[in-house]
Amino acid sequence: MSRIAYVNGQYVQHSEAGIHIEDRGYQFADGVYEVCEIARGNIMDMTRHLDRLNRSLSELRIAWPMDRKALIVVIKEVVRRNRVYNGLVYVQVTRGVARRDHVFPAAGTPSSIVVTAKRTDPKASAARAAKGIKVITVPENRWERVDIKSIGLLPNVLARQQAKEEGAQEAWFIDPDGTVKEGAATNAWIVTKDGTLVTRPAENGILRGITRTTIFDVAKKLGLKIEERGFSVDEAKKAKEVFMTAATTVIMPIVAIDGESVANGHPGETTLSLREAFFDVAERTPAC
Ligand code: PDD
Repeated sequence: MSRIAYVNGQYVQHSEAGIHIEDRGYQFADGVYEVCEIARGNIMDMTRHLDRLNRSLSELRIAWPMDRKALIVVIKEVVRRNRVYNGLVYVQVTRGVARRDHVFPAAGTPSSIVVTAKRTDPKASAARAAKGIKVITVPENRWERVDIKSIGLLPNVLARQQAKEEGAQEAWFIDPDGTVKEGAATNAWIVTKDGTLVTRPAENGILRGITRTTIFDVAKKLGLKIEERGFSVDEAKKAKEVFMTAATTVIMPIVAIDGESVANGHPGETTLSLREAFFDVAERTPAC
């Protein structure tokens, strides 16, 4: 029997079901989900699951894709069409489809919704329960692995959105001890009074930005010294210059932190010279 999925208003063959490539769930993990057990033809604890879905959506300010009653109809219909007597029903809602940008898409962008159902074998589960199962332990690291350029970018999305709402263009993540980690989608730098470039070591806690790495070559060409060490927000506020790096912005001067003017409120000379020299130093592969 072929499986059926519900995708954005339509019941479609599971094997042909698809979501747009610029869906925010696909690009940013910008979405939420629920899984309900189906036992002997009953959807278990659906009210609580939908209450939690409501909470997750509201915490992330994602709009309901349809009203709750309509969603219940869809859930039941997916279970029915897949003839699932024992199994699971899966509901996923994302912030919808938009041209890739960390900040939320324009108001009114419809959320995406997918509902699927699958059968499970209650006998196999009972057999496992009769014997018990084994676990292993792993360090709690959900999600410390920001060194991996993963698409799990929901915290970055929320930080960028907050920056936008507070009249800024980037948000810096700060360690509990006040040390700057990096931006939501950029690496962070300061220039000290004596002209030394300072950036956090890439060994832990940040993404090793390609632009960041190329800045080492640019600095060498310009005869600038780089110190890889952590710096605090306080130090950044007192620094001669502050800037950020990423493929999207290359080298971008920063003139305010948390509403406080920094670097005299103007892009600094060193930052601008790095920006200018970057193109000649970075590898250039003709696109055609
Ligand atoms: N972001 N840190 C984070 C968290 C980033 O997402 C990025 C890049 C960087 C800078 O890396 P690079 O110099 O390789 O671009 C640092 C990309 C541009 C983005 O998500 O749009």
